[in-house]
Amino acid sequence: MSGRLQDFMNKHIPNIESHMYGLVKDVSGPQTLKDSMLYSLEAGGKRIRPLFVTAVCEMFDQPKQAMYTVGATIEIIHTYSLMHDDLPCMDDDDLRRGKPTNHKIFGEALAVLAGDALNSLSFGILARMEEVPSEQRLELIRMLSEGAGAEGMVGGQVLDMEGEKRKLNLEELENVHINKTGALLRFSIESGAVLSGATKEDREALVEYAHHIGLAFQIQDDILDIEGTSEQLGKTAGKDIASDKSTYPALLTLEGAKNKLDEHYKAAVGALERLSVDAALLHEFATYIVRRSK
Ligand code: IPE
Ligand code: IPE
Ligand code: MG
Ligand code: MG
Ligand code: MG
Repeated sequence: MSGRLQDFMNKHIPNIESHMYGLVKDVSGPQTLKDSMLYSLEAGGKRIRPLFVTAVCEMFDQPKQAMYTVGATIEIIHTYSLMHDDLPCMDDDDLRRGKPTNHKIFGEALAVLAGDALNSLSFGILARMEEVPSEQRLELIRMLSEGAGAEGMVGGQVLDMEGEKRKLNLEELENVHINKTGALLRFSIESGAVLSGATKEDREALVEYAHHIGLAFQIQDDILDIEGTSEQLGKTAGKDIASDKSTYPALLTLEGAKNKLDEHYKAAVGALERLSVDAALLHEFATYIVRRSK
């Protein structure tokens, strides 16, 4: 990772995390439910999605508290998606972010309900962002609803499960990735454009960048599932082959998947050239995403 990106992460991750924990700790409700919600959030993770919101706002010279709030909402939804993804009825995983999965500690019912509560909470947080004009707030709520629901992440998870029962073709697999992973990443990049009041042209270029970043991110996740170790990933390696998932390596071989990864990396970086502002940091993010080892 470049020194500049490392510095950016070191500067913002503590703020992102403390802001997010504060928002969740403020919630009232049964203590066991809150413990389960906080357990998975506090377990860690790369925090890529809130970092993207922050990077886009800084790129447009519009840093503000709201970027951490919007970042928290996306990280909260992402974390709930992982809690549900790990359930025995889905990927059946015991390890996440280097710790036992939520249902291993709190039981399946509470892991489902804590995920549900995190999902609902994120929309409430957006609605209460009084420092953001109500028009922008509504737009963010609509975008998050589309990115997280049937037209986005949840829909993609359903298509992903169907890919265990039959071999998907490349177009179908691309659609899985665009939805299950790409939709939330798109929100994290596009929401930064909304908060910054970016022009239509800049926003379109960022959406194109996000499209390729989303695909690249999940292709690298599929590659790491084969090449990484459980210790390094903080989640069980080798799950995709064990469950006969349709993945890029399964469909195209490992080498073919790496070529696809490179294609999307180049396309993502290419889209940045159309931006009216200097996007060097987003370029470095793209490089990090395709080279990361966890
Ligand atoms: C894992 O996401 C699930 C996918 C969408 C591929 P991350 O790789 O961002 O997981 P954390 O947040 O760092 O744990
Ligand atoms: C999950 O994809 C994406 C989500 C919407 C949570 P994976 O099932 O590949 O994620 P990991 O590998 O368990 O993190
Ligand atoms: Mg899964
Ligand atoms: Mg999984
Ligand atoms: Mg995976």
